[in-house]
Amino acid sequence: MCGISGYVGPRTDAGKIVSDGIKHLEYRGYDSWGVACKQDGAIKIQKDTGKISGVDSSIFCSTSSLAIAHTRWATHGGVTSVNAHPHMSGDGTIAVVHNGIIENYQELRDDLITKGHTFKSETDTEIIPHLIEEEMKSTDDFAHAVRNACKMFDGRYALLAMNTTSETIVAARTGSPLIVGVNKTKGGYFIASDIPAFAEHTKTVQYLDDGEMVVCDGKSILFTDIASGEERPKREVEITWSVEQAHKGEFAHFMLKEIMDQKESIARAVNQDEEQIKTIAKAITDAKGTFLVGCGTAGKACMAAEYFFSVIAEHHINFAPASEFKVYHHFLQPESLMIAVSQSGETADVLEAMKVAKSKGAKVLAIVNVEGSSIDREADYTLLINAGPERAVASTKALTGQMAVLMMIAYAMKNQLHEGKTLLLESAGQITELLNPRYVERIEKLAEMIQDKEDLYIIGKSWNYPMALESAIKIQEVSYIHAEGFAGGELKHGPIALIEEGTPCIALVGNDEVTTDIISNTIEIKSRGAMTIGVAPENNEAFDEWLKVPDVGNAQALINIIPIQVLAYYLAVKRGKDPDMPRNLAKSVTVK
Ligand code: F6R
Repeated sequence: MCGISGYVGPRTDAGKIVSDGIKHLEYRGYDSWGVACKQDGAIKIQKDTGKISGVDSSIFCSTSSLAIAHTRWATHGGVTSVNAHPHMSGDGTIAVVHNGIIENYQELRDDLITKGHTFKSETDTEIIPHLIEEEMKSTDDFAHAVRNACKMFDGRYALLAMNTTSETIVAARTGSPLIVGVNKTKGGYFIASDIPAFAEHTKTVQYLDDGEMVVCDGKSILFTDIASGEERPKREVEITWSVEQAHKGEFAHFMLKEIMDQKESIARAVNQDEEQIKTIAKAITDAKGTFLVGCGTAGKACMAAEYFFSVIAEHHINFAPASEFKVYHHFLQPESLMIAVSQSGETADVLEAMKVAKSKGAKVLAIVNVEGSSIDREADYTLLINAGPERAVASTKALTGQMAVLMMIAYAMKNQLHEGKTLLLESAGQITELLNPRYVERIEKLAEMIQDKEDLYIIGKSWNYPMALESAIKIQEVSYIHAEGFAGGELKHGPIALIEEGTPCIALVGNDEVTTDIISNTIEIKSRGAMTIGVAPENNEAFDEWLKVPDVGNAQALINIIPIQVLAYYLAVKRGKDPDMPRNLAKSVTVK
C-alpha cells in the first residue's frame, strides 16, 4: 500500500529519481501518485490519479536536489488528484507524503480549523503539513517541528516532510516501513518504503525502527528517537539481491517470472542453518501452545503447515488468520510461541497479532521474505525464506518458500530434518521439468477453454484443502472469476448444490491416505455435470482434463499449487486483466 520515495543529495535530477522510485513501487498497489520537488526556493507539486508508469520522469523539475514522491492507495477520501499526496501546508511552505492512517486525525483537524486552517482534501494526511506549520510558529528548526507534530499522532505512519527554508528531508515512522539508501561513492540519500525504489542507485541501506525519525541534508544523516530526541546510531547493511531480480527480464509479467522462479526459490528456502531449524523445532515441542498467524496466501501456508505438523511431526499447532487473532489471546501464556508468516513483513494484521502475543509474554518466530521488514525486526527470531523480491501482487514463490520452511521444521521435530530437506530439494528439482513449455502451453489452452465461465470451484483434502483455498484466492484476485475452494468431503454438506452442467471444478490430488476420498468427491461432482480438472500424479476416469504433477509424497501441496498459479495467470491474461496489479489490491497491506 502507498509507496514513498525521497531523495536529497548532490544530484540535480531529484524529481526524476523519486518519480522513477515510485514507478518501482507500483507493485505495492495504488490509485494516484504525486511528486514534490524543491526548485528555486519553492516547492512544485505535480499529482494525478491513475498510473505513473506512462508519465515521463523528466517532466519533474529540471534542476532539483530535493524531492519526495508518493503512490496512494485510497483510505480516507476517494481517488482524486486533490486527495493524492504530497499535501501542502496552508502557507505553501511544507510538503508531506504519508503511508498509514492517523487515527486521531479528525480531532487534530478540528483543532486546526479552530486555529484558522482550511483544508482542500478529505485525507487524514493533510493535517500533517498544517500541524508542522503550526509548530513552525514557535521554532526555526524544521526537524523539531516535525518531531512535535509526530508526537501528537495516534496510529501507524511513515512520512517524509520537506520545506522551503531548509535543504532537508525529515522522515519518521511508527508501524509503516521506511528504509534509507546511502550512496557511498557519489553521495546522496534515498528514503523509501522499499528497496526497489532506489536499488539502481545503491545497495547500502539503513533501517528506521518504529518510533524513530531521520533528518538528512544530503551530506549527513541523523537518526533519533521521536519521543526522546536521543540519537540512534545505525548499522549500514548491504543488500544481497540484484537489480535484475527485481525486474521482469524476458517475462511479460512479474507473476509469470515469479512462478517460474520456484524452480530455484524453493531450494533457496530450504537452504537454512540446520542448527537454527532444530532449535526452533525444539522450541515448538517445548512451547505451551504454538499459534501460526498470517493473512491471505501466507495464511494458507500456515493452514497447510497445520497438516504438516499433524502428519509429519504428530504435533498439534493452531492456525488463526492474523486478523482474527485478537480473540485467541486468552490461550496465550509466556511459554507459548507464535509463528508469524508474511512475505512483505509489513502486514498490519500480523504486526497487531504479534503485539498481542508479546503483551502476553509469548515469543514470536517470524518467517518472512523481506529482511529488515517490521515483522522481521519485531520478532524474537526470524527465518528468511530467501525467495528474492516478489513484485506481482499475487503471491506465488513466497507461498512455496513459506511452506518449505514450515515443512522442514515439522521434519526436524521428528528428528528427520535430512529426510525433509531431501524431499523438498528433490521436489523443487522436478519443477523445471514440470514447467516445460509444452505443459505451460497446455495450461494456457485450458485457460482459454474456461475463461468465460462465471464460477469455478476447487477441492482438496488434507494439505491440498488449504491449497484449494489458495487456488481460489489466486484465480479470484487476478482473473476476477468467482472461484471458491472447499474441502472435498464438505461438498455434500451444501456446496454441491452450486454444480451445474459444465461448471469447471479442479481437484487437487496426491498419492496418499486421502486419494480415494478425493477421487470419490470428484466423481460426485462429475456425475452432477461438472467439468472436472484433476491435478494429480495419476490420471483417473473422474477427470475430464488431467494436469499431471510429479508424485512427491508429503511435499505434494507445494507442487500441486504451481499449475494452478499458471492457470490463474493465463486466465487473467486471456480476460485482458493485468495479473501484476489486480484492482483494489495492494502488495503490502499496511492498514488493519
Ligand atoms: C494473495 C496475496 C495476499 C497476501 C496477504 C499477506 O496472492 O498476496 O493474500 O498473502 O496480503 O501478505 P504478506 O505475506 O506480505 O503478509
